[in-house]
Amino acid sequence: MPAISAKVPGKTILFGEHAVVYGYPAIAVPINSIHLKTTIIPLPGKSHEEIKFVDTNSGKELLLNDLNQGHTFKAALRTIQEGLSVNHFPSMEIRISSSIPSSAGLGSSAALAVALSRSVSSFLGFKLSEEKINQFAYEIEKHQHGTPSGIDNTVITYNQPVYYIKGRPPQFIQISNSFTLLIADSGLRTPTRDTVQYVRQSYERNRTEVEGILNQIGDISQKALTAMQGKDICTIGALMSSNHALLEKLGVSNEKLNNLVTAAQNSGAYGAKLCGGGRGGNIIAVVPPEAAESLKDELLNAGAVNCFVSTVYSNREGVKK
Ligand code: MEV
Repeated sequence: MPAISAKVPGKTILFGEHAVVYGYPAIAVPINSIHLKTTIIPLPGKSHEEIKFVDTNSGKELLLNDLNQGHTFKAALRTIQEGLSVNHFPSMEIRISSSIPSSAGLGSSAALAVALSRSVSSFLGFKLSEEKINQFAYEIEKHQHGTPSGIDNTVITYNQPVYYIKGRPPQFIQISNSFTLLIADSGLRTPTRDTVQYVRQSYERNRTEVEGILNQIGDISQKALTAMQGKDICTIGALMSSNHALLEKLGVSNEKLNNLVTAAQNSGAYGAKLCGGGRGGNIIAVVPPEAAESLKDELLNAGAVNCFVSTVYSNREGVKK
C-alpha cells in the first residue's frame, strides 16, 4: 500500500450562517490560500493493529487505542469504517498538517472530516464519489457539532462556491467577476456547537422573533446569489453588512467582531460581517483589490490578531491554488 494524501481548502460563509441550520439558503466559498492535508502511511510489520495520528504542526502523536470514544479522531474513523463496511483498518500513521485555524469559522473541522474520508477510503482501495465523501464528512461533522447544516463539508468537498439549502443537492454558483476578501481574526474562540446551541435555545424561547431574523437572513442570501451572478460588488458588500447586523441581533456577534466590522466599513470596504458560528473567529470584508493592503493595516490597528487577503475567483478564471 503506497502512502496516500488528501489536501482540502478552508471555507468561509459569505451569507446565511445559522439561518442555514433552519432550512434557509446560505452561500459559502472555498478559501484556497489555507488548507488541511492528511497523509496516510502504512505501518507494515506491526503484530497488532496500530493507528497513530501525528499533528505535524505541533509534532504531537496520539494512538487511536488511547483515545476515548467521543474523541473526534475516533468518531471519524468509526464513521468511515461503518460507511465502508470494513471490519478493521490496517496499521497506519495518519499525518495531519493544517494552516486552517481551529474554531475560527474557516472550516477546520469540516476540512479534517473531508480529508480523512477521502484519504482513508482511498488508502483502503475504495474509489468513492465526491457525493459519498461528502456524506461521510457530514456524518463526522454531526459528532462534532450536533446539528450541522452540511454547508461546511459540502463547500470543502466540492471546492466550489455553493448556494446551499439543507437537505437539497448543492447548487454550484457561476460567479461572473472575481472579488477580493479580507479575512481578519478576532483572536477569540467559541466552538460552533455553542453558538448553534445558543441560537436553538433563543429559537425555542422566542420563536416568532428569531424566525423573523432567520427569514431576513435567508432573503439576503437569495439577493446575494443574484448579485454574485451579476457584477454587483457594491450590492454584495451592502448585503454582507446587513447580514452582520442580523447576526448581531441573533446574539452571535460580540464587541470585538463589531469593532472589526465597523473598522472595515469605515476604511473603504464594500461591506463586512462575521463568518461562521460567531462570538469570535474571523470577520470577512469585501474590498477593492487595490485597497486590500492598506485595509489590512486598518484591521490590524483595530485589534485583529491576523489578517489575510483571499480572492474568490470567477468561474472563467477557475480555482487558483
Ligand atoms: C458554521 O460554519 C456555520 C453554521 O451555520 C453552522 C452550520 O451551518 O452547521 C453556524
